This record gives sequence, C-alpha cells and structure tokens, in this order.
Amino acid sequence: MGARAAARRPVAIARGAPTNLALLALFAVAFLTGWLAFAFATSPARWSLVLHATGGFAILALLPWKSMIVRRGVGRPRRGRWASVLFGALVLISMAAGFLHSTGLLVYWGPLTAMDFHVGAAIAAVPLAIWHVAARRVRIRPTDISRRNFLRGGAVLATAAATYAVSEVVVRAIPTLGAARRFTGSYEAGSYRPDLMPVSSWLLDAIPNLEQSAWRLRAGGREWTYEELTKFDDRVTATLDCTGGFYSTQEWAGARLDRLLGNASGSSIHVTSATGYDRRFPIQNASEMILATRFGGQPLDAGHGYPARLVVPDARGFWWVKWVTAIEVDDLPHWWQSPFPLQ
Ligand code: HEM
Ligand code: HEM
Repeated sequence: MGARAAARRPVAIARGAPTNLALLALFAVAFLTGWLAFAFATSPARWSLVLHATGGFAILALLPWKSMIVRRGVGRPRRGRWASVLFGALVLISMAAGFLHSTGLLVYWGPLTAMDFHVGAAIAAVPLAIWHVAARRVRIRPTDISRRNFLRGGAVLATAAATYAVSEVVVRAIPTLGAARRFTGSYEAGSYRPDLMPVSSWLLDAIPNLEQSAWRLRAGGREWTYEELTKFDDRVTATLDCTGGFYSTQEWAGARLDRLLGNASGSSIHVTSATGYDRRFPIQNASEMILATRFGGQPLDAGHGYPARLVVPDARGFWWVKWVTAIEVDDLPHWWQSPFPLQ
C-alpha cells in the first residue's frame, strides 16, 4: 500500500462513523416509536407513526452510504460478518413488511399478518443490533462534526419525510387498500359482524376450552356464575384495535365493572384470565369498562373470550383480557406491570 493510500484510510473509516451513528439513532427511534404507537389507541399513535415511518425511510435514505461500508466490511474476512448480513436482512424484511402493510399490498399472509412479520423481524434484529455495535468501535473524529455532515443529515431527514408524505398521498390517491387504514395503521375487519371478526392473541395464549357449568368469576368479594352474569345488560359500541394490524367495531353487552366490584376500595383493578394472562387498570376507570358476555347480540365464542371478556374502549386489543376468571381490587398502582404483556 503506498503512502498516499495509507494516509487516506483513516479518513475513509471516519466517513463511515456519522452514517453508522445516524443509523443507530434511527433504528432506536423507529423501534421506540413503533412501541409507543402500540401503547395508544388514540391520536398519539398517529404522531408516533409519522416519526416512525420517517425514521424508517431515513434508514433507507442512508443506504447509498451504508452500502459502501457494507461492501468494505463484507470483503474483509472477519468473524461474525454473516451475523451482520443477517441483521441487515432482518431490518430489510421488517421494513418491507411495514411497507406492504401500510400500502395494503399484503396485509395477511396465511394465519399471520404483515404486521406480525414487521414487528417480529424488528424484535429479532435487536440482539444482533446490540452485538453489531458492541463489536465495532466507532470513533468520532473532530472532522465528523462538520457543517457538511449536519447538512447531509438534514437532507437525509428531509428526503425521508418527503418520501413518507408522497407515499401517503399516493396510497390515498389510488384507492389501494392502504387508504382505508385507521390512524393506528390498522385495517377494518368484520365490524358489526361478530362471525367475521378475526381471532388473535397477544403472544402465546392458546384458546382454552372452558366449561360453562364449571366456570366462575371472582369479583367484588364473591363468585358469579355465567347465568348470573348474563342478566346484566350494560352496552357499549367499542372498537378493538389489534396490534396485529386490524380493528373491529362491535356492540358489546355485559356487566359494567363498577357493578361487579360494588364499593371495593383500592388503587387498581387486576383482571386475570384462565390462561394466567393479566392486566391492571386504574380504579377510576371501572365504570368505563365492561365484562362482556355478548357481542352483536350473540354469546362470545371461544376465540373471542367465551365465557366473558373485558371491553376497554380506547385501549389497544391487548388490554381486552379474554376468558376472564377474576376481577380484583388491590392497593398496587395500576402502572405496576410490564407496559406490554409478556405472555
Ligand atoms: C427498528 C425497526 C423498525 C423499522 C425500521 C420500522 C420501519 C417501518 C416502516 C418503513 C413502516 C412503513 C411506513 C409506511 O410505509 O408508511 C412501518 C410501519 C409500521 N410500523 Fe414499523 N419499523 C420498525 C419496528 C416497529 C416496531 C417494533 C413496531 C411496533 C411495536 C412497529 C410498528 C409499526 C406500525 C404499527 C406500522 C404501520 C403504520 C401505518 O400503517 O401507518 N414498527 N415501520
Ligand atoms: C440499520 C442498521 C445497520 C445495518 C443493517 C448494518 C449492517 C451492516 C453490514 C451488513 C455490514 C458489513 C458486514 C460487517 O462488516 O460486519 C456492516 C458493517 C459495519 N457496521 Fe453496520 N449496520 C447497521 C448499523 C450500524 C451501526 C449503528 C453501527 C455503529 C454504531 C455500525 C457499524 C458498522 C461498522 C463499523 C462496519 C464496518 C466494519 C468493517 O469495515 O470491518 N453499523 N454493517
């Protein structure tokens, strides 16, 4: 290697650092805003998704620069480079699935949704991302903090935001399926048609086979039978917005939680399923939630939570506990739980 080439090398390495750090920040932004969107069934979900998609498109906009780094890295016989290639593939799969979902080009794939692939690939990429960064020392040099790099960063973000805006306009102008998305990105499915409403679970819950005669609900210091519960006729029309990418509006009927709990006092309501799945709610919300035994005038079926499921208007689907067996009040704060279920 001549003296001139050797002198050029550090500069070439330094040029990769801003791109890699920008990728790190964008990957983190995309991941966190994705989860933030999942936390809401109200307008913050949309704002979060605008940031989310812009972050995702900015990762793509950095591809010309990153591909130079990748070419250099792949050409170098270094242990673990295939893990980086797998990492790259997972990020691309996640983005492609996100794009297919948002445009409506492919929403369902067999029993899974494009959203399942989108989030699944992103989660699988996280340990590889941590390893990828930890195994490579990225040194920032004074020359990296330049006006040129800031302008370049600004241009990348502006390109990403413009691409996202154009993609939204196109999706809405050509009425592809994507135009029908709700602000959470979910598609309508089986509204007011209980028989057509999709069945989904958060993670691992299998549908239990519960015998009506043996089933009891523990609530308000006593046990309720199915018969007793069906005598309540509190009603609400509410939309279940599933993080799998669909939403369904139904007329739900059952018992308002404050009626079941009586004058129980405490800080939070702990709702448990026959599967062990559980969620906690602020006590003040008792009168807004219903333990439903019916939807659209018919009893729930096993997939939708028979004998009884929770209806939590304006909360994402994973709050709507199915196959409920206990509703208890205690003194733990309602935020004393994992923000997303682990089961
Ligand atoms: C770091 C990995 C991720 C990247 C790079 C990424 C990127 C993207 C991209 C490019 C889109 C398509 C936007 C469009 O075409 O309009 C999208 C959509 C979406 N992503 Fe992600 N995403 C990631 C992780 C996640 C995670 C972890 C979640 C949820 C926990 C999530 C939730 C969503 C949702 C709900 C949409 C649909 C938005 C809509 O249809 O309006 N994403 N994502
Ligand atoms: C979306 C995120 C990213 C993807 C898909 C990605 C992918 C890749 C791939 C496939 C390679 C070539 C194979 C290898 O050298 O191991 C590579 C190289 C490299 N990546 Fe990343 N990367 C990303 C983010 C980052 C981040 C956040 C950093 C550091 C902060 C980073 C640092 C590096 C470095 C220093 C190299 C060059 C290694 C060498 O020349 O020997 N990358 N990346």
